[in-house]
Amino acid sequence: MKAVDLSVGFHYNNRERMICLIKFSPSILTADFTKIGEAVDCLRSAGADMLHLDVMDGIFVPNISFGFPVVESLNKYTDLPLDVHLMIDRPHRYIERFAKAGADILGFHYEAGSPVGETLQQIKDCGIKSCLTIKPKTPADVVLPFLELCDMVLIMSVEPGFGGQAFMPNALDKIKLIRKEADNRGLTLDIQVDGGIDLNTAPLVTQAGANVLVLGNVLFSAENMEERLAEIRALTM
Ligand code: DX5
Ligand code: ZN
Repeated sequence: MKAVDLSVGFHYNNRERMICLIKFSPSILTADFTKIGEAVDCLRSAGADMLHLDVMDGIFVPNISFGFPVVESLNKYTDLPLDVHLMIDRPHRYIERFAKAGADILGFHYEAGSPVGETLQQIKDCGIKSCLTIKPKTPADVVLPFLELCDMVLIMSVEPGFGGQAFMPNALDKIKLIRKEADNRGLTLDIQVDGGIDLNTAPLVTQAGANVLVLGNVLFSAENMEERLAEIRALTM
């Protein structure tokens, strides 16, 4: 397990240490898996704060990606924290195994058929960070009874399953509502947003109160990932 402090981070830019409130979690979903090590090296030097790993089972979502072996290999390969986004049916069956494989943050879907409070507690009992995730059509208030058990809440801004989709703006009001409620309760909750984040949408979600941004297509379509990430960072400071 690697140290993950999601709340406030430091980033070196032009040799100066700057406080960064926003963290970036690149998704390797659209990477070339024969060159995954190179992609991770590139993301690390581009300034990624963690790696977002999209695990899909073909049942909860209409796509299949990867599972334990990829998480295990990446855990051995990199010191970047692993932010694992489970898009699988009844995820409570696999929490311990993903923790053992090297997840530092483990998120699952509210809609996936697991007992929500118990599964969040199961993740915390493994000594890693818990994340509760909701799909675009799920109202934000379903997460409110569980906020105290969440280190992070993930608001999906696309239907889970595929990278490269367009951002759904209804995510913004959900982020605002959850941030307001967390502030009212004095919780230092991380709010992550996943799907369609680009140069236009990144500032919108951070203004709404999100502080962890998943970046897929916006980085993997760039000629220079480092420059692209720096651009996004500058827009969200
Ligand atoms: C979708 C995944 C996302 C996605 C992000 O199911 O959870 O992590 O790959 O990719 P972009 O940023 O391209 O929407
Ligand atoms: Zn994801």
